[in-house]
Amino acid sequence: MQTKVTVGSVTEIASPLLVVNLFEGVVQPTGATGAIDAALGGLISRLIAQNEVTGKLNEVALFHTLGRIPAERVAVVGLGKKEEFTAEKARQAAGSVARRAQQLKLDRFATIAHGGQAGLSPFVAGQAVVEGTLLGTYRYLRFKTEGNEGKQPIAELTIIEHDQAKVPRLQEGAAKGQIIAEATILARDLSNGPGNLVTPTYMAEQAGQVAERYGLDYTALAPEEMRHLGMGALLGVAQGSAQEPRLIFLRYRAGGEQAKTLGFVGKGITFDSGGISIKPGNKMEEMKHDMSGGAAVIGAAMAIAALKLPVNVLAIVPATENMPSGSAYKPGDILTAMNGKTIEVVNTDAEGRIALADGLAYAVREGADVLVDLATLTGGVVTALGHVATGAVGNDQRLCQALLRAGEESGERLWQLPAWDEYKELIKSDIADVKNSGDRGASTISGGLFLANFVGGKPWCHLDIAGTAWLDSDRPYSPKGATGVGVRLLTQFCEEWAQNPAL
Ligand code: BES
Ligand code: MN
Ligand code: ZN
Repeated sequence: MQTKVTVGSVTEIASPLLVVNLFEGVVQPTGATGAIDAALGGLISRLIAQNEVTGKLNEVALFHTLGRIPAERVAVVGLGKKEEFTAEKARQAAGSVARRAQQLKLDRFATIAHGGQAGLSPFVAGQAVVEGTLLGTYRYLRFKTEGNEGKQPIAELTIIEHDQAKVPRLQEGAAKGQIIAEATILARDLSNGPGNLVTPTYMAEQAGQVAERYGLDYTALAPEEMRHLGMGALLGVAQGSAQEPRLIFLRYRAGGEQAKTLGFVGKGITFDSGGISIKPGNKMEEMKHDMSGGAAVIGAAMAIAALKLPVNVLAIVPATENMPSGSAYKPGDILTAMNGKTIEVVNTDAEGRIALADGLAYAVREGADVLVDLATLTGGVVTALGHVATGAVGNDQRLCQALLRAGEESGERLWQLPAWDEYKELIKSDIADVKNSGDRGASTISGGLFLANFVGGKPWCHLDIAGTAWLDSDRPYSPKGATGVGVRLLTQFCEEWAQNPAL
């Protein structure tokens, strides 16, 4: 999508569609909406008076202008109550109206940046309108050879602003929004991609392309090197699969020698059948997205590098399938992770934590001072928090707080769960250092605390994205399927870290 910011008047701009907005409860529109209302002889205030336009968040009222202004159509998008307005709502409103444009097969439109009247800065407003537009109109069409009318991307977005002084910051915000949305879309494409395309080697290739494009260090370890390093955990999960595993590694250094290195580790199970502890067939196809944590850290590395944030980051993805076969690992097997800890496998479907064990230990070995892992780890987090919040479990409250804040800021919200010692009892093993599953309750917490064994005593926070990485129905800027959750969160976290490191 081409984005441009132009100075001018909404009553003079020529476009197939012009988007203005309305806060809930406003009867006499002002600003750009007021100018259009006047130019159309009071049409908008009439619609408001008749309750046909209310300004409710994500409401879209669209009408033709019949030549009364150069814009062929006008859409009034609702922003909700002014007192409750946030950047998240600007993103939603932009997504809602962009989807309507897409359904009408318009490939370009003009819009004002939403929320200036409620105090959003031009920078944040520019970012939100671009993010909402790109993310809202995203579709995974790679394998759809027909029926794609009304699903094509928007080719050109014009942001119109009457105040010349605001244009530079609007432009900068829009450019940032574009980078973040494109990185999120990379993550969505990987998660929506079928397991027979998105294999561990394919994920590694994609990470390699990101590295090349944005100047990151890149390596992808093959099984031979994993054996050499003692990655018995990741290799154990991989041994039932015909696909070779990869340990994907990206390094970005722009924070200087003194700054801590942030290690982001993402679960990269490119298909989770459950293995010998096989899953039921219903919805098993969705387990192609069990690499969403991995996709998020690759996407975040891309955004962080493209934005040139002054931080030191590692992005690591232990990538493998989890399959049943004659060579597969079995319940009862004991695996030894790279850090020497032994794992009793009691359920081969609790595979993500095993693969992450070596991913985390490798991050420590490569110099990570602070660890954040993202994983579609448990069905339990979907039961607890639904598709609204990511579950957080960690060993360092300042780190968790910094992530919670970044969650609020980015709109990718987290909710922290307790990490009390009592929960560690659930994963004690009689014959190994730890077992990979507790049989009763609190699976999100015990799954998180399992990982604590592999972080080498570093400050760490685990984010369970099993509920937030995938949607069963559309949201204003996330169509059903993969959300790309984590990209915006980690990017925001790094921005705040660069300003003021939490540790
Ligand atoms: N990948 C699944 C978790 C999952 C469930 C992700 C639903 C997305 C949506 C994970 O590997 C798994 O199978 N977890 C088990 C763990 C259990 C065996 C301890 C679970 O949560 O049931
Ligand atoms: Mn599983
Ligand atoms: Zn899994």
